[in-house]
Amino acid sequence: MSSCMEKDIEKILLSQEELKNRVAQLGAQISADYAGKEPVLVSVLRGSYIFMADLTRAIDCMCRVDFMAVSSYGSGTASSGQVNILKDLSDSIEGKDIIVVEDILDSGNTLFYLMQVLQARHPASIKLCTLLDKPSRRTKPIQADYSGFEVPDAFVVGYGLDYDEKYRNLPYIGILKPQVYEKG
Ligand code: IMP
Ligand code: MG
Repeated sequence: MSSCMEKDIEKILLSQEELKNRVAQLGAQISADYAGKEPVLVSVLRGSYIFMADLTRAIDCMCRVDFMAVSSYGSGTASSGQVNILKDLSDSIEGKDIIVVEDILDSGNTLFYLMQVLQARHPASIKLCTLLDKPSRRTKPIQADYSGFEVPDAFVVGYGLDYDEKYRNLPYIGILKPQVYEKG
């Protein structure tokens, strides 16, 4: 166990085992839904990088990957509503079947904006796969097509998710002690 980070974790919400099992299920579901197709999985950096790596290896149809980076949070714990594209996709998505892969759907600001940007590029289809969903905080009309876990209204870190760019490398998902961001 990683003691330098562990002291800041209130409790483990999703263990490595739970994450592994659920990601395998999502991969199997996507493989069945996209059989005979060649979807492009679009990872929204940076939070989804670990989920993306595990999910793509759980998918056994032919697929491609691409990456996009957006910012909406700065170093706080609530979305600013202002979304910037920091890195765009490398390839055109016109006529392609797109699966957007995100770490967490919270207020929905980021993905509501991003899905509109991608729709305007005329993909054949576009679906959203999020590892975590915090529906209690939603302010935008957006829903995931594939969702790993519903989580309570608490700030979570690990398995790619950060607070102030830290804790991404925790192998599980934990609730961050409020003292950590209250003092920060
Ligand atoms: P939204 O725009 O409010 O839906 O926020 C989406 C982004 O905010 C996610 O992709 C995360 O990067 C970040 N975020 C939201 N909630 C959390 C959390 O509990 N922990 C870490 N990051 C979060
Ligand atoms: Mg993110």
